[in-house]
Amino acid sequence: MTQPSRVRIYEVGPRDGLQNEAKTVPTEVKVALIERLAAAGLRKIEATSFVSPKWVPQMADSAEVMTTLTRKPGVDYPVLTPNVKGFEAARDAGATEVAIFGAASESFSQKNINCSVTESLARFQPVMAQAAAANIAVRGYVSCVVGCPYEGRIDPKVVADVVARMIDMGCYEVSLGDTIGVGTPKDIRDMLRIVQDRVPVAKLALHCHDTYGQALANILAGLEMGIAVIDSSVAGLGGCPYAAGASGNVATEDVLYMLNGLGIETGVDLDKIIAAAWYISDFLGREPASKVAVALRDNIRHDNISKGL
Ligand code: HMG
Ligand code: MG
Repeated sequence: MTQPSRVRIYEVGPRDGLQNEAKTVPTEVKVALIERLAAAGLRKIEATSFVSPKWVPQMADSAEVMTTLTRKPGVDYPVLTPNVKGFEAARDAGATEVAIFGAASESFSQKNINCSVTESLARFQPVMAQAAAANIAVRGYVSCVVGCPYEGRIDPKVVADVVARMIDMGCYEVSLGDTIGVGTPKDIRDMLRIVQDRVPVAKLALHCHDTYGQALANILAGLEMGIAVIDSSVAGLGGCPYAAGASGNVATEDVLYMLNGLGIETGVDLDKIIAAAWYISDFLGREPASKVAVALRDNIRHDNISKGL
């Protein structure tokens, strides 16, 4: 299959990125980041997660983020909801799209959401039913599609099975997470071949963490197999609190630079993403974990400063 002519970038920085930050990020900084990302042309921005604040303290202000945000028409602001409690809080805070998150690894499922893979799918059922009743779209995530920090290699058939069950439940799309970034392009191809036997590629997204520097190569392998939705995180922020050593997602600006070079349309403005990357990185007191944001630092930072940002 040839690569798609247009790709939808699904931004996860404000959620997957910030959830792992030790320093509390004030709600107004999170909201300002999300609004900058929307102004750059992103149409899907995962804003926060409605999970237990004891498990992920950084996301404790999820309702406040959702109610403070000025929403741009045409932009969706999905949020993570692991169970009915999270779903109801998200709906009450005005969420119009949510994401359920499971795994292809039993051990990771236990560590991340405190239940087995089968139990997690059962927990998602009432979320799906309530979402359908409220006309709220649901995305699915499957973590550890290539490797698991506790179990090592993961069988692609197990991945395909969990993905197919999430699609059968009513998820409009499932994002395939290389949570600890161990995959190489061959692993991604082998896994995608098996998953695509069960689910059409139009319902799949790739979610690559860049721990081993393989993310762009893996995304290119995915594009060549017809994947047209790519998850990424501004400034390469992030990690997963329940996957020790997992570094951030591939940086949005690095993905965008590659897609621009490949002549693939996204509708997203690279300079504005780089400015957003420096905005949040300056707040966090470190450089972006992104080659492109650093390479283009001087013109963009000058632009930020001249606008008083
Ligand atoms: P649990 O302890 O099994 O849940 O946690 P429980 O139902 O027994 O409840 C325990 C307590 O949590 C109770 O409070 C509940 O009210 C509360 P207490 O009585 O002790 O005061 N609670 C909640 N509070 C707020 N919102 C909720 C909620 N649910 C229960 N929704 C649970 C189960 C799933 C809640 C917990 O394990 C949890 O919150 N896990 C979060 C894990 C997480 O956020 N991980 C990071 C995101 S996933 C990720 O990053 C991977 C991804 O990026 C893809 C990839 O890279 O592969 C998506
Ligand atoms: Mg992730």
